[in-house]
Amino acid sequence: MLDPKVEKILIEQMAKEAASSALYLSMHSWLEMKGLEGCSTFMFAQAEEERTHMLKLMKYINDSGGHAIIPGVKQPKHSFKNVKEVFQLVLESEMDISSSIHNLVDVCTKLKDYTTLHFLQWYVAEQHEEEKLSRTILDKIEIIGLEGNGLYLFDKEMGSMQVQTEMKSQDAAGAGAA
Ligand code: FEO
Repeated sequence: MLDPKVEKILIEQMAKEAASSALYLSMHSWLEMKGLEGCSTFMFAQAEEERTHMLKLMKYINDSGGHAIIPGVKQPKHSFKNVKEVFQLVLESEMDISSSIHNLVDVCTKLKDYTTLHFLQWYVAEQHEEEKLSRTILDKIEIIGLEGNGLYLFDKEMGSMQVQTEMKSQDAAGAGAA
């Protein structure tokens, strides 16, 4: 049975994952409107991935005797200065989510909730991967540049990263269903 304190912060984490999914979908829409097919497809996959993170939490809470209340979502930011700003905001969002996952780990450690701690290990590893991916993308922007043909090349590069992310998404969905 979940400690009510743990249940509450797991539900708060669901809200963060839902907000992250909405932000990424909003980024997808802005990028698509700009004709950036590679970037927009990548962000759509990221939005779907964040949704699976929320669903995985929902299932865990309900399977553990709690009640996963579905969060409402505020309208996300919908306009961006440029592509670099989009990916800087992705990194900020991922760092914010990592710190809230680490806070959850702290609370569960203090309460000796070993089952939830075990469940959260997947999120700790996932956040490490997502932060790494966001930094890699920002590095690519620095290397390729976004002037002239740079934006075209960067968009093409993001289109190829999409394939890898899709494969990771399928893994996450599989883990969620387990
Ligand atoms: Fe589910 Fe990237 O936070």
